Amino acid sequence: MQLSLDELTGLCKRRGFIYQASEIYGGLNGFWDYGPLGVELKNNLRDAWWHDMVRCPPIGPDGNPVNIVGLDSSIIQNPKTWEASGHVGGFNDPMVDCRESKSRYRADHLLVYKPNSDTVPPVSYAFMEGDEASALKKIKKEAKGSEANYDKIYLVELPLEDYALIKGPDATETGTLTEPKDFNLMFETYIGATSGHDNKAYLRPETAQGIFLNYKNVCDTMRVKMPFGIAQIGKSFRNEVTPRNFIFRSREFEQMEMEWFCPPEEAKIWYDFWVETRFNWWVSLGIDPDNLIKREHDSDELAHYSTACADVEYKYPFTAPNYGELEGIAHRGCYDLSQHQEHAGTKMEFFDQESNSKYIPHVIEPASGLTRGVLVLLCEAYKEEWVGKGDNAEILPAEAGQQAPEGFEKRGVMNFSPRMAPIKTAIFPLLKNRPELVEKARGIYNQVNRRYASAWDVTGAIGRRYRRQDEVGTPYCITIDFDSLEDGTVTLRDRDTMKQERVHESELMALLSEKLEE
Ligand code: GAP
Repeated sequence: MQLSLDELTGLCKRRGFIYQASEIYGGLNGFWDYGPLGVELKNNLRDAWWHDMVRCPPIGPDGNPVNIVGLDSSIIQNPKTWEASGHVGGFNDPMVDCRESKSRYRADHLLVYKPNSDTVPPVSYAFMEGDEASALKKIKKEAKGSEANYDKIYLVELPLEDYALIKGPDATETGTLTEPKDFNLMFETYIGATSGHDNKAYLRPETAQGIFLNYKNVCDTMRVKMPFGIAQIGKSFRNEVTPRNFIFRSREFEQMEMEWFCPPEEAKIWYDFWVETRFNWWVSLGIDPDNLIKREHDSDELAHYSTACADVEYKYPFTAPNYGELEGIAHRGCYDLSQHQEHAGTKMEFFDQESNSKYIPHVIEPASGLTRGVLVLLCEAYKEEWVGKGDNAEILPAEAGQQAPEGFEKRGVMNFSPRMAPIKTAIFPLLKNRPELVEKARGIYNQVNRRYASAWDVTGAIGRRYRRQDEVGTPYCITIDFDSLEDGTVTLRDRDTMKQERVHESELMALLSEKLEE
């Protein structure tokens, strides 16, 4: 079962994954802080991407690993970068303000219930995508009508004359929404002590441009051969008009992007390769393939320079039964390098010794959100089960809204894959007031924790300690009891099956490595 987004947000806070930024000051819309478990989860996803893209990259169509090098470029670049990339002129969202509530909405995310009969007053109700319940409530209470009396239309499809009779999502009066205006999503800042047009700069809205700016440096210094990739992970900033859906769309977020440079005639082969490879990568992290789709963009969705783009989409709680973007794989042609060649006056051509030809490479760009990936891992991991009490080791999938049957109790578990789990093992001495148990357990903890992030817990009954670890997704728990002192064995308990086995401490590391490093 999937939690609603509100339930997930609450759970993430209670269990130390994600907190609202600046919470004690009332928060800051679109900004989030990653708590002790959240930062481990995010780092695991980041490290897995880096490992699987840069350190041990995928096997290409010719049976050899592809070549990808890493980069960490500045968040603030010369502002001309964003003129060349088109972000200064074109990185805009249409935006609508409400004169009464002072709220700001993305025009293309606003829908309107417009009356289709004269049995209800001639007032239309605007609402944000995904929040129609609030508009339907108003329709019932204020207009004494029902959904059947209204047509549902996107605001941007209505003529401006209709705005006078529209009530905004947070307004009490009609006619308070302004005409949609373009709004640039880049955060501005100033370099140096004084602020003015001459020293205006921008926080990067994507990591990709830092890669294009360094393409020539990498070619000149790394003896790369075509085709090759440059990968980067880092923060990006977008002054989103309506940040929402928890960390799905935030104003400060992290991206994992790779620009794949190839000869123009090979671009289609590599595009197909990367769409397939990136989809399979998300599945390899334990995401149910039934919750993922590949979606090719229609030609009217493509940027003018792009000949193809596909998204890997996930069935989020707020999109289900539909899907929302997790990663985009774009065929960008030679647009970016040509733009920088023109604006910077630096040649971006590659001399290909093998084919003895010169060309501006084409680019395939797999661009994913690290923080959005964390959301997917969290949505995917939470499970509720009914587990047998006492000696009954049976586990049944819980049915939503139902009580556990007689002899069973509910268990909430996060079944992260071992690679993603924030904590890999937890080590428990059976009793905290028996120094010999604590000392032995400490020794095992020190040894295991050096290799696998581990928790140490001495409080409460062992069953309670197991449940605490289930709730944060720790795959294995190790208990040290009196037998451990006698014969050197410990109990290894599996999160998913809840089965326990006795393992000799001398075999523990080898067994953990087998289980945790799939
Ligand atoms: N360089 C191409 C580029 O930035 P994008 O589709 O705008 O493309 C790539 O962004 C990925 O970054 C998205 O698929 C999404 O996962 C993530 N992303 C974009 N905007 C985001 C936001 N406001 N909050 C969180 N993640 C975001």
